[in-house]
This record gives sequence, C-alpha cells and structure tokens, in this order.
Amino acid sequence: MMTIKSSKDTTKLNSRRSFLKAAASIGLSVPFLMKNAQAQQTGDQSKILVTYYSRTGNTRAVAEQVRKLTGADIFELKTTHSYPAEYRATTDQAKREQQENFRPTLTGTVSNMADYDVIFVGYPNWWATMPMAFFTFLESYDFAGKTIVPFCTHEGSRLGRSVEDLETLCPDATILSGLALRGASDGRIVTTSADAQNAVSDWIAELGISG
Ligand SMILES: Cc1cc2nc3c(=O)[nH]c(=O)nc-3n(C[C@H](O)[C@H](O)[C@H](O)COP(=O)(O)O)c2cc1C
Repeated sequence: MMTIKSSKDTTKLNSRRSFLKAAASIGLSVPFLMKNAQAQQTGDQSKILVTYYSRTGNTRAVAEQVRKLTGADIFELKTTHSYPAEYRATTDQAKREQQENFRPTLTGTVSNMADYDVIFVGYPNWWATMPMAFFTFLESYDFAGKTIVPFCTHEGSRLGRSVEDLETLCPDATILSGLALRGASDGRIVTTSADAQNAVSDWIAELGISG
C-alpha cells in the first residue's frame, strides 16, 4: 500500500492543493480518494472515527467540528493519571513522560475499531509531538489498511515531528495531509474563531471527506 507523506506546513491551503493535485497526477492511486469516489457512486460511505486528546479544550473544539462535518463517531482519550492544573508543572510532567517513553494508561477503549476505515487523530502539540496518551492508543490497535488523518493545535511548533511518529506507530496505514491550527494554553479557546473554523472546513473539503 502506498503511504502519503504529509507536508510539514499543512495549514497552507496552497500546499494542500498541490498535495492533492500531486496525488491525482499519480493516476488516482490514492486509496482513500478512490474509495471515497466509489462511495459517492454507491452510497457506501467510509466509516469515520474522530479520536482526540485535549487538556484545555482547543483540540476538543476542532474534533467536535470535524465530527459535525463528517458525521463521524468520536472518542476522547483520557489518562487514568491526571496532570497538574498549573501549565509549567504540566509541561514538566509531559517532558518527563516523553523522555521516559512512558505509556499512560487510558480510561477507555474503542471496542469496534475494526469497523472504521478513516481515523482522525487530534492532539495538542506537546514537546513537538503527540501527548504520550496517543502512543498508548495507537499501539493498542491494528491500523493496517486504514486511513489516518492528523490534526493538531499548537503554539508555534505546528505538527512538529508528530507525523513521523504516526508513520512509525502505524506503518501500514495511509496518512493523509494533516492540519495544524493555532491554539492556546492560557485558558482561552481560540479554535472556535471564524478563521479557525473556516480552515477546518476547507481542509475537510479538500481531503474530500464528507458525512
Ligand atoms: C505539556 C505541554 C507541552 C507543549 N508543548 C508545545 C510545543 O512543543 N510546541 C507548541 O507549539 N506548543 C506546545 N504546547 C502548547 C499546546 O500545544 C497548545 O496550547 C494547544 O493548543 C493546547 O491544546 P488543548 O487546549 O486542546 O489542550 C504545549 C502545551 C503543553 C500543556
């Protein structure tokens, strides 16, 4: 199966358009696009799951919008251990977890993962990649043959190295072009702004994913 490499600068619509044009120029051999085109003809749509982790709500707001736009099911990752309320203490704990390659225990599982063809993976950028909760999650299921669509909120590092980590964790999945949206860590939820919401709907439209 062909794996689509994500562009690093994926909030730029032009680069996404180029990406999709490039996909089309290689003979429409992109599994997801072909599947979606077939689905539109047969009415047999892909089953979609939005998974996300969010500490302060910015990623959650994006996940909810993606769910509404695609008609997906949704699953929130939660860890059995908590993080401190204070930001700096949280970043320290998260850094330790990353350095120790820790796998947090999650409070829930997706019992019917086999049913889903497309899995959105949404996370705040934590120290240049996904929170370790997603490492636990992605190692818990077989994503071979599935399509993974990353999105993250961040404060400058965009997707960081998260797409490379996704490729390592899910080597037999197709990973589509990800979206990086500016978030916040001071209690504000900025991903509900009109600009942010437009960026999300443009991205979904360009991926060709519909509910
Ligand atoms: C533990 C931790 C580590 C972070 N590391 C980064 C980082 O490396 N780069 C970055 O741009 N933002 C970083 N941030 C900021 C978050 O990615 C940003 O505030 C995000 O929008 C929060 O999403 P949420 O509201 O869904 O929790 C970090 C935040 C936390 C709590």
